[in-house]
Amino acid sequence: MRIGLIQFHVCFGEKEKNFLTVERLLKMEEADLWVLPELFNTGYLFVSQKEVDGLAEEIPDGETTRSLIDLSKKYDTAIVAGLAERASGKYYNSAILVDQKGLIGRYRKLHLFDREKKWFSPGDLPFNIWDLGEAKVGMMICFDWIFPESARTLALKGADIICHPSNLVMPYCQNAMVTRCLENRIFAITANRIGEEERGGLKQKFTGRSQITNFDGEILYRALPDKEQIVVLDIDPSMARNKNINDNNNLFNDRRNKIYEWN
Ligand code: ACM
Repeated sequence: MRIGLIQFHVCFGEKEKNFLTVERLLKMEEADLWVLPELFNTGYLFVSQKEVDGLAEEIPDGETTRSLIDLSKKYDTAIVAGLAERASGKYYNSAILVDQKGLIGRYRKLHLFDREKKWFSPGDLPFNIWDLGEAKVGMMICFDWIFPESARTLALKGADIICHPSNLVMPYCQNAMVTRCLENRIFAITANRIGEEERGGLKQKFTGRSQITNFDGEILYRALPDKEQIVVLDIDPSMARNKNINDNNNLFNDRRNKIYEWN
């Protein structure tokens, strides 16, 4: 299976420009599955709820979901992308999975980071996985990485690959994903953005270094901190289905759930 990620400088509020950047990069290589950054179309540093409302979209009826489905059809691929969702008077930092047939999956970020809590409601959907045929995939978004339960839950539900749209600002995630993948024997595609946003008196620099991490924790590719880049690699997702780490240890069977209980 050929998997890919797109790392680029998202321009705040310039949805059309950001989408065109994605299309320009995506058509340079073929892949079965692409992962784009968190909030890939809008940018990150919102300064008011009104602004969130103006840029958020309904899923699946919003223009970004529809355009991503068109892109999937045109380039015969599945795409995971992060975007701001408007639903029943609430706003979520969401990710969607689409393919040639339409919307397949939706995830709403469970663990909101810092000022995201001002604008977004915490996700209200369980971690889920979807079968793309060659691989079962799950989604988590950026700061979800710091809660080991995120990757663990996706792995226990049977994901082979974690699709991980990100707008990372701290320096730890890329190294932490080595452990997330190793402890779950699962692949991860962390698609981060680059660049800086300065809005409403705040400044945020994004760390790039998007990464594809192997099921055994090996970093298959780490992108540069500040360059627009696409990364495409061939993997065998079935390698994530064997949870044995030697003849006597199985990552899932050896868990001591009864002993772990804390209440
Ligand atoms: C983050 O969760 N965007 C840091």
